[in-house]
Amino acid sequence: MGRFEGKVAVVTGAGAGIGKACALAIAREGGRVVVADIDGSAAIACTAQIAAEAGHALALDIDIADAQAVAALFETAERHFGGVDLLVNNASAMHLTPHDRAILDLDLAVWDQTMATNLRGTLLCCRQAIPRMIARGGGAIVNMSSCQGLSGDTAQTSYAASKAAMNMLSASLATQYGHAQIRCNAVAPGLIMTERLLAKLDECMQRHLRRHQLLPRVGRPEDVATLVAFLLSDDAAFITGQVVCIDGGMLAHVPTYADGGNSRAARPSGETAEAAASPRC
Ligand SMILES: NC(=O)c1ccc[n+]([C@@H]2O[C@H](COP(=O)([O-])OP(=O)(O)OC[C@H]3O[C@@H](n4cnc5c(N)ncnc54)[C@H](O)[C@@H]3O)[C@@H](O)[C@H]2O)c1
Repeated sequence: MGRFEGKVAVVTGAGAGIGKACALAIAREGGRVVVADIDGSAAIACTAQIAAEAGHALALDIDIADAQAVAALFETAERHFGGVDLLVNNASAMHLTPHDRAILDLDLAVWDQTMATNLRGTLLCCRQAIPRMIARGGGAIVNMSSCQGLSGDTAQTSYAASKAAMNMLSASLATQYGHAQIRCNAVAPGLIMTERLLAKLDECMQRHLRRHQLLPRVGRPEDVATLVAFLLSDDAAFITGQVVCIDGGMLAHVPTYADGGNSRAARPSGETAEAAASPRC
């Protein structure tokens, strides 16, 4: 018996990357999964993979920033699978990242669109899921946050603020609906090498980011999916309202003192901490 036998999950942004890995992990443990993505063909490809592994999934083409579309998503999930027990709020407006600049250089439209998708979209999905979970005696929600919601950056002002707000939304939800047996946690990944990031980050940037982790490998979508599955499952029955980092130790150290070589001893001789922290190829 898988941990999600008899359960119905909605995973947003499940057509690619971390969301897809989460959808596959839930389906592999017996859950029936609604694969919701703004990219309809990516959603269909994910459900085809689940079906090929004898799992059950339904693809829906949906923008989580659209309140009506979100309502229709949950109505369809209920009609098709009988209810909703699990929700992974994973979709995020990643396409805006290159335009998401420092505070004085930021286009307010980028701020508004980022908040509309990441934060308001997550809220919309939670508002649809909560009554359905209550009707089934409880449920579990994971909100996909980011390490960038926990530390400052030279850019990505809107993204970071939206993720920090998602952490608090998770705590509020956990506080308000814990009595109804609904748990809610946030997961904060560091650098996770999805296909999108592999195509976007050149080798120099990848090496630079890796040097700021404590573990000597990149994060994979499956690493995050394993944590999400744990938090959704009864194994995490007494865990709620938490933000759990999964970042290879990126936020666990003072970056000027430790680099990806794990110790000062691993640095080339004579190299200062400051030099080690700056990108170079
Ligand atoms: N990859 C990382 O290093 C990393 C690090 C920290 C946090 N995260 C978070 O993990 C989540 C997934 O990131 P990823 O790297 O797997 O992204 P990705 O770009 O690989 O996949 C995101 C998916 O979401 C879909 N999507 C985008 N906007 C949507 C919308 N409005 N409605 C529905 N679907 C939408 C996309 O079509 C895509 O299939 C995001 O919330 C992101 O902020 C990722």
